[in-house]
Amino acid sequence: MADYKITLLKGDGIGPEIVNQAVKVLDKAAEKFNFTVEYDEALLGGCAIDATGVPLPDETVAKCKASDSVILGAVGGPKWDNQPGNNRPEAGLLGIRGALGLFANLRPSVIFGPLKSASPIKDEIIGDNMDIMIVRELTGGIYFGERGRGDDFAWDTEKYSVAEVERIARVAFDLAMKRNKKLTSVDKANVLESSRLWRETVIKVSKDYPEVELNHMYVDNCAMQLVRNPKQFDVIVTSNIFGDILSDEASMIAGSIGMLASASLSGGKLGLYEPIHGSAPDIAGKGIANPLATILSVAMMLRYSLNQPEAAEAIEAAVSKVLLNNRTPDIYEDGMNKVSCDQMGDLVCAEL
Ligand code: IPM
Ligand code: MG
Repeated sequence: MADYKITLLKGDGIGPEIVNQAVKVLDKAAEKFNFTVEYDEALLGGCAIDATGVPLPDETVAKCKASDSVILGAVGGPKWDNQPGNNRPEAGLLGIRGALGLFANLRPSVIFGPLKSASPIKDEIIGDNMDIMIVRELTGGIYFGERGRGDDFAWDTEKYSVAEVERIARVAFDLAMKRNKKLTSVDKANVLESSRLWRETVIKVSKDYPEVELNHMYVDNCAMQLVRNPKQFDVIVTSNIFGDILSDEASMIAGSIGMLASASLSGGKLGLYEPIHGSAPDIAGKGIANPLATILSVAMMLRYSLNQPEAAEAIEAAVSKVLLNNRTPDIYEDGMNKVSCDQMGDLVCAEL
């Protein structure tokens, strides 16, 4: 029996090409660090709708639950845009987050040295090592609250329990302890009751982390501060919807959305790892997608779910090295070797 069982949800668009590269790199890391991996595949998103009629078949949930971790490519595309809301590929993504209890979404926004010029923000504002970790609550709030429609109105509800806020706050404080011990909790406590409970609860949890410097910021101010002075942030913890918005903003500060990884954690070993970018249907099948965000998601998986921190570091170092001379078209700069999705995977393996 293999040491780890990984379920692959390749999904739609460029999903299959990028996941294939991530598997290649994981196999190489396994060889180098002496562990074994066994894979299983399951359907999620548009491909699942085509094959079974629903975006998240029961079999997919069962396979994911029976594995040590899940690697996801991306879901969605214009083909399924006219599906009703609860049968869209995105509903599959929300469904799997809920079904696996993936309440903590870690979205690091880091600049890889050689890519600094790709950021639209001025060099002096970014500094030399921008590294922000956004911790987004992922299974509560307005995404999962009660909603409905009347004849000429509709509503969605933002609701958080103390227990939900407490557990995400602990994830964020624990991460801050391993980093620069600075945590910013983002809310809209000047308007929303749920945000006032959020803030009170985060303050309560902070008593267990006296070494972490905690501050609170309204979400509108945070959106502004992220481009004004991103260096002030270390870890940011926030609700589902605010985290969705702020993590897109933070990803752009880092330059290329094609580079950023994410982890969705359940509190146990099982996690789901995916690039933060989408399925890019316009370039699917052309072999030009950037697989690095998915490869870096594998590094996060090795760190947070499989307890192989050395393998994680080795992959991250290999990616940095390869980027010095090689680029997929989305991050191409003059003088570099322009490489395909597949070649990028091979280069990272060779460097490993
Ligand atoms: C994300 C995406 C999803 C979200 C969509 C596709 C449902 O934007 O993972 O950030 O809003 O959570
Ligand atoms: Mg989003």
